Amino acid sequence: MSDSPPFKAPIGTHDVLGVDSARWEGLVATFAGFAHRYGFHLAITPLFEDVGVFKRGIGEQSEVARKEMYVFEDRGNRTFALRPEGTAPIVRAFIQHNPTTPFKAWYFTPAFRYERPQAGRYRQHHQLGVEVLGTDDPMIDVEVVSLAQRFFEDLGLRRFRLLINSMGHAQCRAAYVALLREYLSQHADELCDEHATTWSENPLRVLDCKNERCVAVTDKAPMLIDHLCDDCRAHFDVVRAGLVALGIDASVEPRLVRGFDYYSRTTFEFVSDALEGAQNAIGGGGRYDGLVEQLGGKPTSGIGFGSGVERLLLTLDAEGVTGAFGAQRELDIFLVDTVGGEAGSVLLDRLRHEGYSVDRAYDQRSMKSQMKLADKSGARLALLLGAQELAAQEVTMKDLRSGDFGTTQERVAQVDLFAILAQRLKVT
Ligand code: HAM
Repeated sequence: MSDSPPFKAPIGTHDVLGVDSARWEGLVATFAGFAHRYGFHLAITPLFEDVGVFKRGIGEQSEVARKEMYVFEDRGNRTFALRPEGTAPIVRAFIQHNPTTPFKAWYFTPAFRYERPQAGRYRQHHQLGVEVLGTDDPMIDVEVVSLAQRFFEDLGLRRFRLLINSMGHAQCRAAYVALLREYLSQHADELCDEHATTWSENPLRVLDCKNERCVAVTDKAPMLIDHLCDDCRAHFDVVRAGLVALGIDASVEPRLVRGFDYYSRTTFEFVSDALEGAQNAIGGGGRYDGLVEQLGGKPTSGIGFGSGVERLLLTLDAEGVTGAFGAQRELDIFLVDTVGGEAGSVLLDRLRHEGYSVDRAYDQRSMKSQMKLADKSGARLALLLGAQELAAQEVTMKDLRSGDFGTTQERVAQVDLFAILAQRLKVT
């Protein structure tokens, strides 16, 4: 054994094992079901990309690009970054493969950001998300937002709110930023320490700042929502009306500017009232009508959202939602095999082929020790295969949750086993 202390997962990352991983499986399967019902296909793209995909995609000046990306050089002197988010890689793949539009992709991905780790904020987190490329129809905005809303509702979450805003398109945003810049220049000395010097680089960031000095200044600042051009205003109104028609409440939040430069028009965030303020976003997204061009493709509209799995699980816990997402997958059968050799392995193979989840003990343990493991396993039934059973082509069936089957133990012929199991365990 080595003298050095054992390795641990890096700070800000975590292992997902056992009961926890059952909840992850449940979440991902539920999201996949939703995505399919809304016409999305799974997309899998590399975890690392040319660093330019992200720098140009999310904006060189964004906090994530400046301070949080994991950038590395490979042995061929190419500079890559681990993905800090899921949208830019999908757009890169869209440009590369030129699929028919609208192109609708969903994903489940780790994302890497060098953040200060705390509850709900990690250096590797995981997102479930969707992206749609090739239409600026406001009805797709409604669909994307409603997919997220229905997904959260289906998980059993109740204490969350939807905030929505419009960032306008490039032209109306540019005119607004000039206005905001003018306003901030008159109040620069009243801003928080960071923004007192940096407001000019990206004035929109100041709107997002939670510091009370910045909030006091921006409370009276002009808001983009009041300076949209007619087209962007009309687009936003149709999106809002569409959400109302689905019975989805959305509060307009003029300060919602989001952290990446690619956003245009509709932006939205789902916040949980069950989580701590600074980490309370359980999902967010919006339109990015200029991003495909920004990454070298033809002008193409896009919209999507991402939702943090860790935050969803924290929210489920905080709201006390258990049910399907708290339960470990059930084991149907535990095989207690005191014969050893191939007979047990053949029986296991047949049981699993029939669709039962089956486990067993190894290493020739005693009958008593195997029965203990069977009890611990949570299986509904134990099947005992001993020398007597093997000789008679039988198996002993033992009910591990007395009462379930009316009888606790019985010998059955192996030829009848599957008919009996089908009756008792009902594989679906
Ligand atoms: P985002 O708001 O940066 O957007 O992240 C989406 C979600 O991921 C957040 O709402 C939050 O639930 C979770 N999240 C973000 N950072 C962390 C972290 N450090 N630790 C734990 N959870 C985190 C995006 O990434 C965009 N790509 C979303 C999008 C898709 N926009 C358009 N399409």
